[in-house]
Amino acid sequence: MDTASTTPVTYIPTASGKNVIVEGPLTEATLGTSIVPAYAYTDEEAFAHEQQTIFRSGWSWAGYAHWIPNVGDVRPVTIAGSPLLLVRSTEDEIKVFHNSCRHRGMVLTEEPIEVTQRIQCAYHCWSYNLDGSLAAAPYFTRERRGNPSPEAKERLHLLPVAAATWAGMIFVNLSDDPRPFLESAGPLVERWSYIDFDRLHLGAEREFDLAVNWKLCVENFLDFYHLPFVHPQVGPVAASLDVDDVVIEPSLIVGGSYPRGAVGKAKKSEDQLPYLGDVPDDKKESQDIFCLFPNALVFLEADWFQVIALDPRSATHTVEHMAVFVDKDADDPRFAESISSLVEVLFHVNEQDIPFLYKLQAGRRSVGSDHTSLVEHWDQITAMFQTIVASRAGYGTGSEAARVDD
Ligand code: FES
Ligand SMILES: [Fe+2]
Repeated sequence: MDTASTTPVTYIPTASGKNVIVEGPLTEATLGTSIVPAYAYTDEEAFAHEQQTIFRSGWSWAGYAHWIPNVGDVRPVTIAGSPLLLVRSTEDEIKVFHNSCRHRGMVLTEEPIEVTQRIQCAYHCWSYNLDGSLAAAPYFTRERRGNPSPEAKERLHLLPVAAATWAGMIFVNLSDDPRPFLESAGPLVERWSYIDFDRLHLGAEREFDLAVNWKLCVENFLDFYHLPFVHPQVGPVAASLDVDDVVIEPSLIVGGSYPRGAVGKAKKSEDQLPYLGDVPDDKKESQDIFCLFPNALVFLEADWFQVIALDPRSATHTVEHMAVFVDKDADDPRFAESISSLVEVLFHVNEQDIPFLYKLQAGRRSVGSDHTSLVEHWDQITAMFQTIVASRAGYGTGSEAARVDD
């Protein structure tokens, strides 16, 4: 279960005095001590355990709303090993069901489909309405029109999954007793309340199929230290020094923010993209970069919104679903060039990270990866992410020492 942390957050000024870092778990004494053990990045048993303790025990990103734009669009996804169906049930509503026919448990579809009214199982032709109710089960009583009684139908509804749609994303919660989405993500929803997410228009989307563990993707996203070395085009070291650590909710939402925009960032030009809603002046230059635990990496500016959503397939395989959104008023030929140069820049940054992710993954085979050194002046946010992982999955309780000795 997601649990709201009551731990108070303390910020301390950086050496420059202009920015703040969070007082996190790292000190000089923690150098050489990994928070998450190396095997957690390579071992399939550890992966299966994380699927249960992390992805099945709270809210997770499950897809994009634009994957199912029209009523009757159905898209299968797999979250924490469970086959699910994302269904556009009405213009304004997305529902999520377990992808399992109530008769013999066959998956209803393995491909995206568009239906006019009903989702039909291919095996014995039971069909379901878009709200998940059983519409018909032909020959149920051996008569042609012998459908189940209303009471029986009631019991044969597709099994629903707790779902929420926010900021163009669909989230699901597979835990037995899901708490409301807003109790988890509420503080981020609140922080971004000046953005009108109903205005999102997809600028571009791309899939990155990576032979790496999902946690490395998160850690790299939260690593502001590597920016000037791996992405020199993004700005000088001064730009990285300009980021504030931000902890919105220590057990769920951590990241950083450039409150005044990064040093060296190009100024907005005449043909700049329209803002995503009524953005106040003091937010027009800010950039927010957060991990909405566990698998939504979100990056917001006043005129665009980027998501890298992680779809972990195995201990060493992750699919990144990267999408860049702009305001719907930017859906106009005069902005086409601005959008294509924006998405080119953002995709290029992500591509630049890939060889580093692969080398980080390769390093997880070394005993050295049990003795890594996140740095107190840079990596408190990454350490906080790892601390959430460790506490959910039970790393650091001594069990990994036993694993290494085996
Ligand atoms: S398994 Fe679906 S109708 Fe029989
Ligand atoms: Fe990077």
